[in-house]
Amino acid sequence: MTQVIQLNKNHKLNIHSDFQKQDVNFDIKKLQDACNQVLKIKGFDTSLGIPHFAAISLNQIPGDPDSIKGSKVRGVYWTKPDSSGKEVLRDVSIKEHKYTEFVKDFEHTYFKEVYDLLSKKYKLGRVRLLLKEPRSTLSWHRDPEPRLHIPIYTNPGCLMVIDEKAKHMPADGSVWITNNTKYHNAFNGGEENRVHLVACVLDYKFN
Ligand SMILES: [Fe+2]
Repeated sequence: MTQVIQLNKNHKLNIHSDFQKQDVNFDIKKLQDACNQVLKIKGFDTSLGIPHFAAISLNQIPGDPDSIKGSKVRGVYWTKPDSSGKEVLRDVSIKEHKYTEFVKDFEHTYFKEVYDLLSKKYKLGRVRLLLKEPRSTLSWHRDPEPRLHIPIYTNPGCLMVIDEKAKHMPADGSVWITNNTKYHNAFNGGEENRVHLVACVLDYKFN
């Protein structure tokens, strides 16, 4: 009886958390190998105008290589940049549902398998590898939709903060969906790069 109550409690906790671990797991060694393969083909684009941040897109709008360039790699977000606390909108809005074609150059990597499996389970928008350099942070911001995270390279000093709760997501093949519609941030307080596979999730509802 006690065990049943405990299980229900845990279930409830997960439901109300802004960090929700998913019932799917990938091979971390294969993820890291795939990441290294992609980085050999195409280095991180560090010209995105955000310090210490870079991205590589794994999918695009079919036949449209421009859909993974410049502001399209960043996407719209809201932030409170100054002492007034006034919210402002940055960047361009993205037609996430149109990103359905896996980038051909990376089709031979494990990421294609990961992408195909995740696409069956969730309605995905853009899927990117995101780099957070050592001793760096993002802005305090919110996004239009939740995000799926698969940590590939991380260290104990990498935390994501949503609202006022912080969490380290380990690089062990686990998959998380985070409530990025609330104000959040991610920082890397370590001395090595942090790399996550991050996908926009269009059909996931938080309570
Ligand atoms: Fe975000």
